Amino acid sequence: MLSLKEKLLIFLAQSGTYARSLSISTSAIAHHLGTSQQSVSRILIQLEQNGYIEKVVVGKTTLIRLTDKGLDELRNLYIVLKNILEKPMEIILEGRVFSGLGEGFYYISLPQYFEQIKERVGFTPYLGTLNIQLLSKDSIENRMLLEKNADIIINGFSNGQRTYGSARCIKALFNGEQEAAIIFAERTHYGKDVVEVIAPVYLRGKYNLRDGDKVFVKVILKTSSHNDKVLAAEVK
Ligand code: CDP
Repeated sequence: MLSLKEKLLIFLAQSGTYARSLSISTSAIAHHLGTSQQSVSRILIQLEQNGYIEKVVVGKTTLIRLTDKGLDELRNLYIVLKNILEKPMEIILEGRVFSGLGEGFYYISLPQYFEQIKERVGFTPYLGTLNIQLLSKDSIENRMLLEKNADIIINGFSNGQRTYGSARCIKALFNGEQEAAIIFAERTHYGKDVVEVIAPVYLRGKYNLRDGDKVFVKVILKTSSHNDKVLAAEVK
């Protein structure tokens, strides 16, 4: 959470006090920031003592102006936030391999899915999905985050006899190195504690995997979508 000092500096900058002095009462600032007038007065005194703002009392009104030092303080805050928010997030899902009923083979083999995966995910998939039972609460929460961010759309279709649901994919690194993707099927009988992985290779063969073996998938999430939300948010 931002401190009142930081909130006040942001509020003053938002009000344009770096270019001109602003005449505003401490109670109006307090109202805007949802705090008490006493707190605002106290912080304003500190900010002035630190050289972040200049106050001029003209009759009954107080004129406040952000100094260069005050602006520098905001720039520092900006850099700290930028580093946190723009750093790609590494999301890891850990779990154990398990066998299903051969449905992955059936679905990935359908040309309508196969061709879309080739084109949109960017590799020729091995015909099947490797099922992973997630082990920890963290992995299950991360799975939800990844599902929200899975933006490679595989459209559903109908072949006249039945309809096939859509799916969403996100690129991933199997065991931290092998190109792969997690595929979230719209219609699946698996719960939120399972992910299905597709890859251009037979993963069981490459990693000598048996049911119950531990594996992990890593996804590098770019945070630009989060940044947009942050930038749109007003400082309160
Ligand atoms: O029956 P199940 O749903 O587990 O398998 P499937 O989706 O039909 O896939 C056939 C087999 O290939 C399974 O043993 C999968 O675990 C495995 N597989 C793999 O090793 N690597 C992939 N890229 C995809 C599937």
